[in-house]
Amino acid sequence: MSRVYNFSAGPAVLPEPVLKQAAEEMLDWHGSGMSVMEMSHRGKEFIAIHAQAEADLRELLAIPADYKVLFLQGGAAGQFAVVPMNLLRGKSAADYVNTGYWSKKAIGEAKRYCKVNVAASSQDANFTYAPKQDKWQLDLNAAYVHITSNETIGGVEFHWIPDTQGVPLVTDASSHILSRPMDVSRYGLIYAGAQKNIGPAGLTIVIVREELIGQASPTTPAVFDYKVQAEADSMHNTPPTYAVYIAGLVFQWLKNLGGLKKMEEINIAKAKLVYGYLDQTEFYHSPVAREDRSRMNIPFTLRNSALDDAFLKEAKSHALTQLKGHRSVGGMRASIYNAMPIDGVKTLVEFMREFERKHG
Ligand SMILES: Cc1ncc(COP(=O)(O)O)c(C=O)c1O
Repeated sequence: MSRVYNFSAGPAVLPEPVLKQAAEEMLDWHGSGMSVMEMSHRGKEFIAIHAQAEADLRELLAIPADYKVLFLQGGAAGQFAVVPMNLLRGKSAADYVNTGYWSKKAIGEAKRYCKVNVAASSQDANFTYAPKQDKWQLDLNAAYVHITSNETIGGVEFHWIPDTQGVPLVTDASSHILSRPMDVSRYGLIYAGAQKNIGPAGLTIVIVREELIGQASPTTPAVFDYKVQAEADSMHNTPPTYAVYIAGLVFQWLKNLGGLKKMEEINIAKAKLVYGYLDQTEFYHSPVAREDRSRMNIPFTLRNSALDDAFLKEAKSHALTQLKGHRSVGGMRASIYNAMPIDGVKTLVEFMREFERKHG
């Protein structure tokens, strides 16, 4: 068996110990005589798996007691619609900060449900930075303020929490949740698709302050009504059971590692290796403003784009895969989520240096 270093933006690399444990438990989970995939979600075994996963997530993120944790389906893109359905609460407008591809998608979907005020945008510089707070034009009557706290494609990350003057702050944290500690109490709602830092695709996590739920618009499907799902422990319908189980193993892996503070230290060290190199070469270029650079998704270009194909081909021969940038921006992108080992990042940087020596 030989595994590659997989720099995919998602679905993405998972911790090897998690995959090994899942393989060991595949046919017989803890003496139950069945795989987790085969269990009833109403049985005591799965209910225990689900409850443990929630407890571990609460511990990792220090989620306050007045927040509900929901394990849903429909993806983060589903939440682009589900958030306004649930959080408008009779209001007619919401504020959105436009930092690139994923915020634009969220805005486009929200416009089907309410008036969207773009409170700030980094479009003027091709979405290469996070707009400073003093440039925001907030509407104090907005139902909520939405940000994309890590733009997976543009590689722009909020390293600070905006002050929304009492209006609930909502964030799409899909591509950096669990990469660092987070002050959950500063948010009204946090959502994330699982397939980057949490587990397999199919699970969507919502963390929401309890006082904000219970006023979904009447046409909201019951499975997407936060209140309905909160009251049913996310089991109003069948949850994505296997994805919840793997997410639970990832949470245990993070706890064993020392929690999110430790994970953050490792992520800072990994990101420094790549940016440190990008900053001292003319051969490659990082387009993102230094203070807003993502620790998880690192887009970069080769000054000579005619070498792009050769770069990807040679990288692959070094078992470094999925480095092609998103089709909307081109170039390269290295996604270095929690589960990417530091050795993978070192191997990438060594390869980039060698490629420069050869072609520079
Ligand atoms: C920041 C962000 N938001 C939303 C999405 C869409 O997620 P999904 O495909 O789970 O709906 C992605 C997917 O990559 C993402 O990176």
